Amino acid sequence: MKTASTTHGRFITLEGGEGVGKSTQIATLRDLIAAHGFEVVTTREPGGTHRAERIRELLLETSEESMPASCELLLLFAARATHLENLIRPALARGAWVVCDRYTDATYAYQGGGRGVDPGQIAALESFIQGDVRPHLTILLDAPVELGAARARARNEAQGGSDRFEREQQAFFERVRRCYLQRAQDEPDRFLVVDASLAREAVTRQIEAGLIARLLAPASPQSSSTPPNPAKTGAAGFQDSPSESTGSPQRGSRQPGSR
Ligand SMILES: Nc1ncnc2c1ncn2[C@@H]1O[C@H](COP(=O)(O)OP(=O)(O)OP(=O)(O)O)[C@@H](O)[C@H]1O
Ligand SMILES: [Mg+2]
Repeated sequence: MKTASTTHGRFITLEGGEGVGKSTQIATLRDLIAAHGFEVVTTREPGGTHRAERIRELLLETSEESMPASCELLLLFAARATHLENLIRPALARGAWVVCDRYTDATYAYQGGGRGVDPGQIAALESFIQGDVRPHLTILLDAPVELGAARARARNEAQGGSDRFEREQQAFFERVRRCYLQRAQDEPDRFLVVDASLAREAVTRQIEAGLIARLLAPASPQSSSTPPNPAKTGAAGFQDSPSESTGSPQRGSRQPGSR
């Protein structure tokens, strides 16, 4: 697989429903990887580059005009195509570790599980847009839907506003959660499932332990012939911070997949 074996970098994705703590934990991941001497690029989907962020705005805006599931799906993959071409692939090729807040599992969970889009259609677009680029590790932050919703609600009240995905109904998010967990069960080697209902520090510890066991220890100079890059970190400039209220499009409606 191109991402996994023919590039020097590592591709890590963070997944999970609304408010589980993805944006909160991404800084931890960045710091841990950087401390091991690798360049780190943090980014998000939909978005991550200028054009992809413009598409994200289209996905999240509320409008009188209805958004067909097919339109949402194609916009998600359009954003992913330019994100891959302009940010993810170049970073991996130069040996950087890319940490992405939501990716194609979100498309399967939100558009597939949530909205009922045929997973076969998502798979066809995944193959067309991504080729064989897949994450080396996907960290699934799992928590009861009500808990994530309560966290997201409190965050949004503090910051003002919510997007159209965050207004989806509970049954929708239950389907999203089930789809994520099923995917994790189907691909245990790629997924690390973390109990996100715990306190922040406990979630961080689970992520650190999994990252070290799965990727950092095997990639250390002692066990690999490829030396790490000089320590440095970089951000795409679009990664949302824990204080940001914008939801990711992959969720509810539009996530095509990406998220
Ligand atoms: N383990 C935790 N315990 C309690 N609160 C948390 C925990 N992790 C994150 N939070 C808080 O919950 C809220 C949601 O967290 P965050 O924005 O990181 O979630 P998210 O998964 O990125 O959400 P979204 O899907 O909307 O992007 C924030 O206010 C954050 O500070
Ligand atoms: Mg977030």
